[in-house]
Amino acid sequence: MTRIVLLGYMGAGKTTVGRELAKKLNLMFYDLDWYIESRFKKKVSQIFAEEGEEGFRKKERNMLHEVAEFEDVIISLGGGTPCFFDNMEYINQQAETIYLKGTPEILYEHLMMAKGKRPLLEGKSPEELKEYIKTSLESREPFYCQAKHIFNIELLGNGDKINKCVEDICTMLNIP
Ligand code: S3P
Repeated sequence: MTRIVLLGYMGAGKTTVGRELAKKLNLMFYDLDWYIESRFKKKVSQIFAEEGEEGFRKKERNMLHEVAEFEDVIISLGGGTPCFFDNMEYINQQAETIYLKGTPEILYEHLMMAKGKRPLLEGKSPEELKEYIKTSLESREPFYCQAKHIFNIELLGNGDKINKCVEDICTMLNIP
C-alpha cells in the first residue's frame, strides 16, 4: 500500500507536484484544500471568512483524518496543516511524508505566478508578502522538518522542471 503526503509552505508546489507524481505512479491524487471544499461545498476563503482561521483549522484536521485513511494515494496538505494540533505526528504515523522545501525567494516567485485565493496572503503588497513569507516560514519550519523526507525544490517554471522534480522524488523514495 502506498500513501505519500506532500507538505510545505504555500507556493512550494505541493499540488502541482502531487498531481504529476500521482499520474506517474498511477495513484489517486487528493489535495486537502480541494477535499475540504468539496466536502463542505465552500471555498477555503469562504470558510475563513465565516468561521475564522480557528474554524477552518478544526475542519482541516477532521478532513485530514478522512483522507489520511485512503490507500494507494498521493495527498497534498495545505501549507498550515502540519502546524496545528497533533497533525504532523498523526500524518507521520499514516504516511510517507515529504517536505517540499523552498527558499522564501522561490516561494515568492511561485506565489506570484499562481495567484490563487489565499486568505492569509490577501491584501499584501509585494514587500509585505516577502516579509510575511520569511517570518512565517521560520515559525513553520520546525513542523515541516518533522517530515520523514526533505526535498529541496527549485523554481518550477515549466513542465520539464516539474517532471524532473517528480523523477527526483521517486529516486529519493527508491521508486523505480
Ligand atoms: C494555508 C494554505 C492554503 C490553505 C489555506 C491556509 C496556510 O493551502 O490551506 O489558505 O496556512 O498556509 P496551500 O498551501 O495549498 O496554498
